[in-house]
Amino acid sequence: MKSQAIRTTFLEFFEAKEHKIVRSAPVIPAEDPTLLFTNAGMNQFKDVFLDKGSRPYSRAVDTQKCIRASGKHNDLEDVGRDTYHHTFFEMLGNWSFGDYYKKEAISWAWELMTDVWKLPRERLYATVYHDDEESLQIWKEATDIPHDHIMKFGDKDNFWEMGETGPCGPCSEIHIDLTPDMSGASLVNAGDHRVIELWNLVFIQYDRQLDGSLQPLPKKHVDTGMGFERITAVLQGKNSNYDTDIFKPLFDAITEMTGISYRASLDGEHDIAMRVIADHARTLAFAIADGAMPGNEGRGYVLRRILRRALRYARKLDCRKPMLYKLIGVISETMGDVFPELRKQCGTVQKIVRSEEESFLATLDRGMEIYGDIMAAMKTAGTTVMSGEDTFRLYDTYGFPVDLTRLMAEEEGCTIDEAGFDACMQEQKSRAREDRRQKHQVTEAEVAWHWFEKGASHSRFCGYDQLEADARILAFRPAAEELLLILDTTPFYAESGGQVGDQGVIENGEYRFHVTDTRKDGDMIIHIVDSIVNPTDNTCIDPADIASGFSQQVHASVDRERRFDTERNHTATHLLHAALRKVLGEHVQQKGSMVTPERLRFDFSHFEKVSEKELAEVEAMVNREIREAHNLEKKADIPFEEAVDMGALAFFGDKYADRVRVVEVPGISIELCGGTHVDNIGRIGLFKITGESSVASGIRRIEAMTGKAAEELLWNEFQELQQVRQLLKARSDEGVAVKVQELLEEKKSLAKEMQDMQLSVLLQQALQQLETAEEINGCKVLAMTFSDIDAGELRNLGQYIQDRMDDGVALLASSAGGKVALVSCVGQKALATRSLNAGALVKSAARAVQGGGGGKPAFATAGGKNPEGIPQALDIFREEVTAAIAG
Ligand code: ALA
Repeated sequence: MKSQAIRTTFLEFFEAKEHKIVRSAPVIPAEDPTLLFTNAGMNQFKDVFLDKGSRPYSRAVDTQKCIRASGKHNDLEDVGRDTYHHTFFEMLGNWSFGDYYKKEAISWAWELMTDVWKLPRERLYATVYHDDEESLQIWKEATDIPHDHIMKFGDKDNFWEMGETGPCGPCSEIHIDLTPDMSGASLVNAGDHRVIELWNLVFIQYDRQLDGSLQPLPKKHVDTGMGFERITAVLQGKNSNYDTDIFKPLFDAITEMTGISYRASLDGEHDIAMRVIADHARTLAFAIADGAMPGNEGRGYVLRRILRRALRYARKLDCRKPMLYKLIGVISETMGDVFPELRKQCGTVQKIVRSEEESFLATLDRGMEIYGDIMAAMKTAGTTVMSGEDTFRLYDTYGFPVDLTRLMAEEEGCTIDEAGFDACMQEQKSRAREDRRQKHQVTEAEVAWHWFEKGASHSRFCGYDQLEADARILAFRPAAEELLLILDTTPFYAESGGQVGDQGVIENGEYRFHVTDTRKDGDMIIHIVDSIVNPTDNTCIDPADIASGFSQQVHASVDRERRFDTERNHTATHLLHAALRKVLGEHVQQKGSMVTPERLRFDFSHFEKVSEKELAEVEAMVNREIREAHNLEKKADIPFEEAVDMGALAFFGDKYADRVRVVEVPGISIELCGGTHVDNIGRIGLFKITGESSVASGIRRIEAMTGKAAEELLWNEFQELQQVRQLLKARSDEGVAVKVQELLEEKKSLAKEMQDMQLSVLLQQALQQLETAEEINGCKVLAMTFSDIDAGELRNLGQYIQDRMDDGVALLASSAGGKVALVSCVGQKALATRSLNAGALVKSAARAVQGGGGGKPAFATAGGKNPEGIPQALDIFREEVTAAIAG
């Protein structure tokens, strides 16, 4: 059976059991700060399990894109070394949200495994949590598994948790024994590739708290996960996931590049390398297609390390050039039907991967240099042990794996300080842990909600076409300096998709709540109130004094001006996005945005600076469209596929909901968007780009303003220009830039003239001094100090004097800005007849000003940093000259 068919069979099996087929969530979790990557099928349903959100169905099935390369579930180091771990994999899963429970989950899993896929019962093992008698009984009674194939395990194997906190519960797993003689009973959960876990059925019933305690959830749920690559290997009769049709096209492509074939061995160096490369290329393709970027922290850093690990293994195949980007095309070709985002983003992902590969390969070369420096320093110091810090620096900054450093060191008869390296690693890990802990504390330092209505599960947003509404307060919570409010229905837009939350007022007869921000938590819309006023006497009320006895009926009104200004900016980002795609090309994809009442910011993929000319073209295009004043068309609640068929641009960092909202400016732009917008683009008024910059490699940012803010900006600039015009006494039709340019040139030439004049005054002084200078044995000796001239000018002076001095020697000194400059010169005759050396003279003198220098016997310069030492420097000069001439 082909892998495609296996995936479909799974989905259809559960669809027939009334499960809704849902799309995979992106691998970059949209709204969960506790996760870097989606690591299980259940992530997108976390809010349902925690009773914070709901879905219009109670059973679901999907194939979920997962990455396990960081955090609690991290398989990175195992990839390549064995044949069944991946950093990227698909997880087939079925769910019950408070609907069916253990009995159905277990018997349906068994049915699919043994009746549909016909896996031999004798090879299957079921594990249950040690005190879960219920599951044990179900296995015995509802399936025909041999009873001695049911085993109990403890927390480590049979209690599944999403992360440090969050939904969790006991689980029951199905393992398969692949030993030829079916002797694998003792290998279940023993980390042996011959007996592997296929399917995990988790019975979610707790929420793990930060303090480690388990809080029971209001409902019980089922969450299952089966490794798609593993089940494919088993059903295709292969020994390894990597021997299936999922990986073959990747190995073929690597063979084409390197001439090395995949031989499917466990230990062969080439085979390990090929598995690593194929796996890591998939992770990069999926993560970047969903909006991630390699970078220096968080998930970007994980991706960077994955890419580097792959490239290091590529060296084992003797491949030293960028190569991963070539695999991206293969992945998008073979998996693009199931995950269309791969095809859409293919070009962008290839460019990002390639440029990251190029810069790492350069870094690797740089790392080699640093390694060389460290080795040289060790030799000088007479040690053969590379310190833990140096090894760690190579690893952390230059991506050098420790085994590479160790190997290279050993080749030179050295070792590395393993314990010191481990200590550095530990230190870094505990720093990261501390960061995570601090982040958590913010969310945990919360006080309880006061609910008026138990069981309310969501607040309704009515603010697309209404800015005021009568509503009921469902709950409130006093926080540190604020009060949080949840209403049953609200016109307040909660921050999302880059658009800021609304501000405004919520009031009843007793209180006027001033809302400064609106946020989302699952299906709840939370109003953040920063001040509460008594409407009758306008006195302020402390949030802590609010008790539950007040009237729930309120009137909520959004700050209209602020909302309208925000909408202008939001609609303008759509026009900007479309214009950028027209002017720069279709590779432009939104990578992020921020929309406030004052300004907008739009990040997008593009590989070079956007030129002035392109910016002008984009701006003009958007303004032309604004003048055409099209109406916007907004379609709410349409199926995702239909929206994509209409040509809607999806921003892949977002959660893909099943039903989406589409915002269209006919003929110009069509996007999936939950934000609020103007009705007619003419209301934007004016669009002005204020800046263009780089955010990360391959990502540019444009900042802009619209409406009133743009008008103010232009007015202020215009006023400023008028003032400049007046100062320049320029006519309104005269270009001021030319005038300013002329002025600047004039200023430059005046400055030059002045400098020349100063120099000539100084020269005169010097020449006078030279006339009257002391003579020793007929040789003139000039020692002179200047103030406030720099080293360059002093040098010019020195040359001038040297030309006018025949039998003579001079030392000129000056100090400017705390620095000392010295020049020494010897005239031609003196040079020929006396043993004078300007280089030696200046060197000795420089010691008095804490400096150094040198030069030729005829002319030499020095610098110093102690102006106070100048008189002494001159004395030294005189003494040495006297000694040289007299001697
Ligand atoms: N959430 C469970 C897992 O990831 C099914 O194994």
